[in-house]
Amino acid sequence: MAVATPVALVLTVCFLGFNLPSLSVASSSSDFLQCLSTIVPSQLLLTPGSPSFKPLLVSSIRNAKFVAPATARPPLCILTPTKASHVQAAVRCGRHHGVRLRVRSGGHDNEGLSYRSQRPEVFAVVDLAKLNTVRVDPRQATGWVGSGTTLGELYYAIGKAAPGLGFPAGVCPTVGVGGLFTGGGQGLLMRKYGLSADNILDATIVDADGNLLQSKKAMGDDLFWAIRGGGGGSFGIVLSWKVRLVPVPPKVTFFSVNKTIEQGAVDAVTKWQTVAPALPDDLTVRVVVQQRTATFQSLYLGNCSTVVGTLRGRFPELGVKYADCREMSWLQYTAYLYFGEAASKKIPLEVLLLNRTMTIGPFVKNKSDFVKKPLTNNTWHKIFTWPSGAAKGHLILEPHGGRMAKIADGDTPFPHRSGVLYNIQYVQFWNGSGVGGNISMMPNWINGMYDYMAPFVTKNPRAAYSNYRDLDIGVNKVVGGVSTYESGKVWGDRYFVGNFRRLAMIKRKVDPADYFRNEQSVPPLF
Ligand SMILES: Cc1cc2nc3c(=O)[nH]c(=O)nc-3n(C[C@H](O)[C@H](O)[C@H](O)COP(=O)(O)OP(=O)(O)OC[C@H]3O[C@@H](n4cnc5c(N)ncnc54)[C@H](O)[C@@H]3O)c2cc1C
Ligand SMILES: *[C@@H]1O[C@H](CO)[C@@H](O)[C@H](O)[C@H]1NC(C)=O
Ligand SMILES: *[C@@H]1O[C@H](CO)[C@@H](O)[C@H](O)[C@H]1NC(C)=O
Ligand SMILES: *[C@@H]1O[C@H](CO)[C@@H](O)[C@H](O)[C@H]1NC(C)=O
Ligand SMILES: *[C@@H]1O[C@H](CO)[C@@H](O)[C@H](O)[C@H]1NC(C)=O
Ligand SMILES: *[C@@H]1O[C@H](CO)[C@@H](O)[C@H](O)[C@H]1NC(C)=O
Ligand SMILES: *[C@@H]1O[C@H](CO)[C@@H](O)[C@H](O)[C@H]1NC(C)=O
Ligand SMILES: *[C@@H]1O[C@H](CO)[C@@H](O)[C@H](O)[C@H]1NC(C)=O
Repeated sequence: MAVATPVALVLTVCFLGFNLPSLSVASSSSDFLQCLSTIVPSQLLLTPGSPSFKPLLVSSIRNAKFVAPATARPPLCILTPTKASHVQAAVRCGRHHGVRLRVRSGGHDNEGLSYRSQRPEVFAVVDLAKLNTVRVDPRQATGWVGSGTTLGELYYAIGKAAPGLGFPAGVCPTVGVGGLFTGGGQGLLMRKYGLSADNILDATIVDADGNLLQSKKAMGDDLFWAIRGGGGGSFGIVLSWKVRLVPVPPKVTFFSVNKTIEQGAVDAVTKWQTVAPALPDDLTVRVVVQQRTATFQSLYLGNCSTVVGTLRGRFPELGVKYADCREMSWLQYTAYLYFGEAASKKIPLEVLLLNRTMTIGPFVKNKSDFVKKPLTNNTWHKIFTWPSGAAKGHLILEPHGGRMAKIADGDTPFPHRSGVLYNIQYVQFWNGSGVGGNISMMPNWINGMYDYMAPFVTKNPRAAYSNYRDLDIGVNKVVGGVSTYESGKVWGDRYFVGNFRRLAMIKRKVDPADYFRNEQSVPPLF
């Protein structure tokens, strides 16, 4: 565990080491730390002078390209609260002394906004990793989940306490609940049960005045609506969530089928576009398209023979066979989908799902789209044969339909519901070590592909998924100390379509001073 360095001792190091804009800011920073240290135990408050500071800062950085920028302009301190009162103190001290907060749950923000700022501002990180308790009530089929819980920890706790239950959320076990739930939460159970955000029954939050609101009743309908898909970092610091757990059978079925262009990948994906969103909602087939190959992967809430039979009728071109399937418990599945064969019985689920240690992999850039009209086979042919060069890129296609299409666009802030066939995530990995972490030195596969796709995806606005955050689509301008609605609308209409305006009105009500803000936070509408 982190060895604490008392705040008073490291202040000097902190101020000499980093060029803070002005003396007055520097002195408010020290007042902030002093204010915090009256409430927060020193071992929960690390400043850059501490040897444990940098390891803690990078501990949940997922994307290699943000390590250099985050460590070059680090936060004033990192607070790892164990209680609501610590979070309340951070907000109150921060507001009083002009220090902004970045809130981090799992640290997987695609643009790193939970631990870095592109602006010349003094900020502290509130890292919720220690608020990771999960309490499952199998009889009520509900649970209370701390925001710092990872998906792996959540799945494990549910699977162990209540083997007949599960929860619809994302694929990667190290993603944090705090960011995933606030932005929606897509996953392979969404066709059956909706997004994570659609299954939240209650929550606790610290608001912009530092008040602890311990229920949806205390926060009011608007704020409770906004935190279930309106994006993290805008409305307050959510501490915990009450979730509705959902039934899963004793065995679920995974299959993986590859098709190369020569084996008919173009026709198969063309057909998949209309078949997958219309399948029975307990069957999800997603596709990864990379380099002349399509990989079709399933989650089926039932056994292999049933899914093979269903697809023989509905999608014979795929040619799924009994031998392509694996049956396992839902809990095993959550590890298998991510780790593949490594998730065999030899490596215990505890090791796979409860390991919060991140490998900092390659540099990554992601973008997203939603599709309402199927692309033609000629378009798919072009995508499959796209010249790749040195860049490695792929597309992940996640089918909607089922429950997703039965929820109205305005029921939650996530508006991509009726008429959506599937979501596309463009992913590009590259080795950035040679260019010293310069974020601009990105190979341009992803931008070329994204431009090419414009005519085929949703338009006016070209929608995007807020959890696949992309600063290329717009960043806020701050005027008179407050992010402007007009600048936010540029990207906000794309993430939230018809719901953006309501989010901005709620922001005005709960945080008119725009204390909780970042490059892409919801601005107040006056
Ligand atoms: C490897 C990987 C796999 C992914 N897989 C999926 C997937 O399957 N499905 C899917 O929908 N998305 C997926 N995502 C996207 C993911 O949902 C978002 O990146 C999400 O924001 C991550 O949550 P986090 O807590 O880990 O992130 P963080 O970086 O901690 O937070 C993200 C944003 O939310 C804010 N925030 C965090 N916690 C709180 C809180 N408690 N209260 C208020 N604001 C908060 C942060 O300030 C930041 O702005 C994936 C991302 C990665 C990197
Ligand atoms: C982009 O998406 C891929 C696949 O979901 C994921 O592994 C990667 O971490 C994401 N990258 C970023 C920057 O979030
Ligand atoms: C399927 O294709 C992917 C991507 O090309 C590859 O990584 C994987 O090993 C293939 N799987 C099989 C079973 O051939
Ligand atoms: C598969 O599930 C179906 C429907 O529940 C059931 O009728 C069938 O017996 C099962 N088959 C096997 C091999 O378990
Ligand atoms: C946890 O994951 C990290 C990163 O992938 C790995 O280096 C480490 O060995 C894992 N820990 C255990 C106990 O498996
Ligand atoms: C697309 O489909 C049409 C009509 O079925 C066919 O003539 C054409 O060859 C196909 N194109 C590709 C690239 O497969
Ligand atoms: C990445 O690039 C660096 C510098 O060019 C090189 O030393 C390193 O081996 C590369 N890593 C991988 C995984 O290709
Ligand atoms: C990063 O790369 C861009 C594009 O080549 C260049 O303009 C910029 O100066 C580089 N930045 C640094 C810090 O090297």
